[in-house]
Amino acid sequence: MAKNINPASLGAPTIMVVLGATGDLMAKKIVPALFHLHKEQALPSRFRLVGVSRRNWQDSDFKKHVKSIIGDAIPKAARLARNGFLNLTSYHQLTFSEESNYRVLGKILKQIDDEWGQCSNKLFYLSVPPQFYSVIFNNLHQSGLTKPCGGSGEGWTRVIVEKPFGSDRKSAKALDKQLSKLFKEEQIYRIDHYLAKEMFQNIIAFRFGNNLFEAEWGRKFIQSIHIRLFESKGVEDRGEFYDGVGALRDVGQNHLLEILALLTMKRPESYDAAAIRTARTKLLKTLIAPTIADAATNSFRAQYEGYRTIRGVASDSDTETYFRVRGFLSAPQWKSVPIIMEGGKRLGAPLKEVEIILKHPEPCLCPPGKDHVRNRIIIRTEPNEGITVSFYAKKPGYALELEERSFRFDFRDRESTKSQYTEEYEKLLLDCVSGDQTLFVSSAEIAAMWHFIDPFITAWQQGLAPLHRYKPDSAAIVAMANAANKAVSD
Ligand code: BG6
Repeated sequence: MAKNINPASLGAPTIMVVLGATGDLMAKKIVPALFHLHKEQALPSRFRLVGVSRRNWQDSDFKKHVKSIIGDAIPKAARLARNGFLNLTSYHQLTFSEESNYRVLGKILKQIDDEWGQCSNKLFYLSVPPQFYSVIFNNLHQSGLTKPCGGSGEGWTRVIVEKPFGSDRKSAKALDKQLSKLFKEEQIYRIDHYLAKEMFQNIIAFRFGNNLFEAEWGRKFIQSIHIRLFESKGVEDRGEFYDGVGALRDVGQNHLLEILALLTMKRPESYDAAAIRTARTKLLKTLIAPTIADAATNSFRAQYEGYRTIRGVASDSDTETYFRVRGFLSAPQWKSVPIIMEGGKRLGAPLKEVEIILKHPEPCLCPPGKDHVRNRIIIRTEPNEGITVSFYAKKPGYALELEERSFRFDFRDRESTKSQYTEEYEKLLLDCVSGDQTLFVSSAEIAAMWHFIDPFITAWQQGLAPLHRYKPDSAAIVAMANAANKAVSD
């Protein structure tokens, strides 16, 4: 759970440098979130956004770009705020591989500090494809840009990185080795925006803030855990990136496993970042990496029809756009509880949720000739945000017949709120400024997640699990996964 904002840390002058500032992430997430924070006066009172990219742009081009991202369809008051926000922006052209360019950038940042008469905090946001991470990290370090400009904690420097963190355990380890040589772990903020989703943060509140289920949370009480991330949208214009990644690496290796960690971790010692990250890491380390043969049996993968015609996608691509995998944890509390994770694109209506199916008591006082009903806890972020606990009650009437009913908690009406990304990125950016790493992923978590995921990828690369096809915009493939592979069926 993110701590309250520390006003002292937000008060310090801060420069955010976004490398890759003309890209998609900037337009979809970073600018909307920063602009909203600006309107709410939640940014440090002295704040600058320096856009950096390879394009030969002037400040005015960048301002025009940021203005077009914010758009004109905003109220009059917001237009004034927009002008104020644009005044906080500037641009610097830089070739990622040229160390001398970083030194020039350093001079520009120093000028801003001189103007303020203060040594400011610096945030370097890598909004670039992962192949540039290595060269950028090196040059940021070599050029002295990540060296604090003041003594005793003044003018800290931090780097923000987006996933993917490597493409398997080995490459993630190599990246980590490089990072840890150049930066301290407390300087590195690895984003997994699922950790910033209100409903997934609510998992911690629901579990540890109540005494409803936590006492029996584990194999005695829980039959199975299902985590779903069904998207209606497709790969869109990200063909080149996605084709080298696939659904399992894109959302399984990170978002779904982080949700699993929140669901199954032990009670942290406190709500502090370190305690929560330690609890998540300990749990993720208990993920049992299957053998390659087991990985093939415990998985199902498919690709939607038409995927291969997307720009940037190989015409004979075997990349999955839907997956289902089953895994287990070695922690005694979770021994033998199947965990089924699935996700994919173009699956019809969006559905992003966790379903926890509870065991029924043994021996069962079942209705004659019928199985006992099973209670379910659903924690959902899309299409609606809320928690539902299903239970069984007597149907009105003479006979003792049961029917499913539910307790339902609606977190809020999605329509009435700002865009989800704005909310998530606002939270992430503020936490980064205030130095709270709760919602950011540690290097140990990443290693543990790849350890579990690698065998599935290898099994698929070896062709040990067939690649099925599905018609886009329908969830029929989900039923097919159920029918085709007993190991991963509900
Ligand atoms: C991103 C993936 O990490 O998560 C995307 O790269 C995916 O492919 C997205 O669409 C899903 O996030 P959300 O917040 O839209 O559920």
